[in-house]
Amino acid sequence: MGPFRQPKLYYVNNWPSVKIFGDDTLIIYDRIFDQIPSARAWIRAFPACYAVKSGENLKDIDLFPGHIKAIERVTRKLSSRKLKIVVLGGGSVGDFGGFVASVFKRGVELIHFPSTWLAAFDSSHGGKTALNVSGVKNQIGTFYPATQVYMVKSLLTSQPPERSFEALGELIKMGLLAGGDLYSKMNRVSAFNSKALWRLLPLVVRAKYRIVNKDPREQTGERQVLNFGHTLGHIFEAHFALPHGVAVLAGIQFSLEWSYQRQLLSQKEYLNLMRAKFWKKAVDKKMSSTWKHLNMLALLGEAPRTYMGYLQQDKKKSGVRMLGFVFLKKPGAPTVINVDFKEILAEISRQSSFWG
Ligand SMILES: NC(=O)c1ccc[n+]([C@@H]2O[C@H](COP(=O)([O-])OP(=O)(O)OC[C@H]3O[C@@H](n4cnc5c(N)ncnc54)[C@H](O)[C@@H]3O)[C@@H](O)[C@H]2O)c1
Repeated sequence: MGPFRQPKLYYVNNWPSVKIFGDDTLIIYDRIFDQIPSARAWIRAFPACYAVKSGENLKDIDLFPGHIKAIERVTRKLSSRKLKIVVLGGGSVGDFGGFVASVFKRGVELIHFPSTWLAAFDSSHGGKTALNVSGVKNQIGTFYPATQVYMVKSLLTSQPPERSFEALGELIKMGLLAGGDLYSKMNRVSAFNSKALWRLLPLVVRAKYRIVNKDPREQTGERQVLNFGHTLGHIFEAHFALPHGVAVLAGIQFSLEWSYQRQLLSQKEYLNLMRAKFWKKAVDKKMSSTWKHLNMLALLGEAPRTYMGYLQQDKKKSGVRMLGFVFLKKPGAPTVINVDFKEILAEISRQSSFWG
C-alpha cells in the first residue's frame, strides 16, 4: 500500500486542450453532455469515449460486467500500457469511473473533471471509488486517487441553480469541520450562488485534503469526521431518494441538535450557529429550490425498525450495534463518539417530537 498521492489541482476558466492527455485516453462521461454542443465537441476529440447515464444504477455491481465489456471494446485500439481514463461527471460517474480506472488492466491513470458542485467540493478529491450491491450503497470500492483534478469554471458555474442548493450539504459540512477562514468566508458570501461557490471552492478543497492527507485509507479514524451529517444523511438519501447533498444538510441539522442536547455544543455556540448568516442563507436558498417543501420532521417520522435496518447496513459501524457518530463542539472542533443504535433511535424520536 503506497502513500496517498494528492492529485494535482487545476482551476481553469474553460476546457483545456484534449491533446495534453495524449493518444491513449478514454473519456467516461455523463451522457447529458451530448446535449451541450461545446462539451460534445470537446468529448469527441478524445481517442475513445464511453457515455453513461448518471445515478445510482450506474454504480450497480450487477451491471458492471456489461460496462467493462463495452469499455474493453472501445479501448481496444489504445495502448494498454499508456491508457488513461478521464472522468467527466458528478459523484456517481466519478465513483463508477474511478472504480473502473482502479481495476481495468490492473489500474490505469485517472483524471477527474467533476461536473457537479458536490463532486468538485468533495467526491473527486478523497480517492474513494464505489459500487452498490443489491441496492446498498458503496459496498464495493477501492482507494484510488486521481492524478489530476480539473475544476472548470464554465462547466461548474453553468449548472442549474438547484444543483447549488444540493451542494450546500458538503460545503457547510466542510465549513463547520474546518472553522477558521473557510467558516468566516462562508458566512460572508452574499448568497450561495455559482459565483460564491466558485470562490469558496479552493478553500473547501484545501480543507478536505487537510483531513484526507492525515488518514487517506481510513485507518487512524481521523478521516471519520468527514462523515459529519452522513449517518442520518445516508438514511434520508436511501429511504427518501433525496440528492446526497440535500440529505447531508438534513443530517447536519440532526447532528447539531444532538450535539447541543448532549451539551457538547454550548448554548452560546448553538445559538450563534442557528443565527449565523450562512444558516439563514442556506434556508433562503432552500426556499428558492425544488426542495422548498422538504420537511426535516417528516424525514424523522418513520418507524424505528426502518432506521434500524439502515443503521445495520452502515459500513461505518464500529461494533455490532454501535457506530462512530460525528458531533460538533464548535466550528472547527468536531468529535467522534461511539454511540449505540438505541441512542440514535431515541434521539430521532426526541427530535421528531420536539419539533412536532
Ligand atoms: N467517492 C466519494 O468520496 C463520494 C463522496 C460523496 C458522494 N459520493 C457519491 O456521489 C453521488 C452523488 O453525487 P452527484 O449528486 O454529483 O451525482 P450525479 O453524478 O448523479 O449527478 C447528479 C445530477 O446532476 C446531473 N449533472 C451532472 N453534471 C451536471 C452539469 N454540469 N449541469 C447540469 N447537470 C449536471 C447529472 O446528470 C445527474 O442528474 C452518490 O452516488 C454518492 O454516493 C461519493
